[in-house]
Amino acid sequence: MSISKEVKRITTHTLQEMKDHGEPIAMLTAYDFSMARIIDEAGIDVILVGDSASNVMAGHETTLPITLDQMIYHASSVVRAAKKSLVVVDLPFGTYQGDSKKALNSAIRIMKESGAHAVKLEGGVQIIDSVKRILKAGIPVMGHLGLIPQSIYKFGTYTVRAKEEMESKQLKEDALALEKAGVFAIVVEKIPAKLAAEVSKSLRIPTIGIGGGNQTDGQVLVTHDMIGITKDFHPRFLRRYLELYNEMKGAFERYITDVKSRDFPSNKEQY
Ligand code: KIV
Repeated sequence: MSISKEVKRITTHTLQEMKDHGEPIAMLTAYDFSMARIIDEAGIDVILVGDSASNVMAGHETTLPITLDQMIYHASSVVRAAKKSLVVVDLPFGTYQGDSKKALNSAIRIMKESGAHAVKLEGGVQIIDSVKRILKAGIPVMGHLGLIPQSIYKFGTYTVRAKEEMESKQLKEDALALEKAGVFAIVVEKIPAKLAAEVSKSLRIPTIGIGGGNQTDGQVLVTHDMIGITKDFHPRFLRRYLELYNEMKGAFERYITDVKSRDFPSNKEQY
C-alpha cells in the first residue's frame, strides 16, 4: 500500500481559519529557491516574496528600483520550492498606483508568469480602485499599512508610523476599507502595539505585524534580518535567531586560507 506524500497547501481560507481559532500566522520573506525550500520545509505558513529583495538581493537603498520582471524572477524561484506555504508577491513601486488597469495587468503577470498564489499592495483608500479591480479578476490581495516603504520619500524616514491621532484614525479607516473591498489579510508595519492590537481586534480578516507588537494575528520578518545576514540593522522589533554574517565570513576566510596554503583539496578530495 502506498501512502500519499501529498502535503496540503495553506490557502487564504486557512489563514482565516487560523485567525478564527486564535492560531498565530508565521510569515517570512524569500527571494530564491534554496532559501524558500528551507523555510517551506520548516513549516512556515506564508512566504512573502517582498520587494525588500531590492535592498537585500540587489543592494539598493530603497524598494523603489525593483522591477516587475525582477519580482517575477524571484517569485518563480520561490514558487518552485514552496510545497506547502502560501506564496504572496509584492507588486513593485510604479506598477499599480494611480491606474487600476495597469495594476490588474501587473497582478496578472505575477500570477501567470510566476505561479504565485496572491499579491500584496501598499496603501489604503488611495489604491482601493486597484485593489478592487485585481480582486474582481479572482486574484487574492494582501494589504500593507503603517510604514509603507514604497512611500519613503513622502515620509522622509523609516520611523514608527501612526503615533499621532490623525494618522492613526486614517490607518483604521484604510484597514476597514481594505477589508470591505475583500483583501484576505493586512500587513501592519512599525505602528504602536496598542493601535495594531485595536486594528486586529476590529477586523474579521487577519493582520500580520512587523514591529506591531504581539497582538496581531501573525508576524512577519525579513529572513535575511532574522538570520543575521544583513549587517548593521538592529531595529527594536527584530529578533535575530542567528548571526550568519560573521559565521559565513569566517567560513569564507577559512576557505581562502585553505586554498592559499594548498590544504584544500586534500588527497581525499580529488580523483
Ligand atoms: O518587502 C517586504 O519584505 C515586506 C515586509 C517587510 C512585510 O513588505
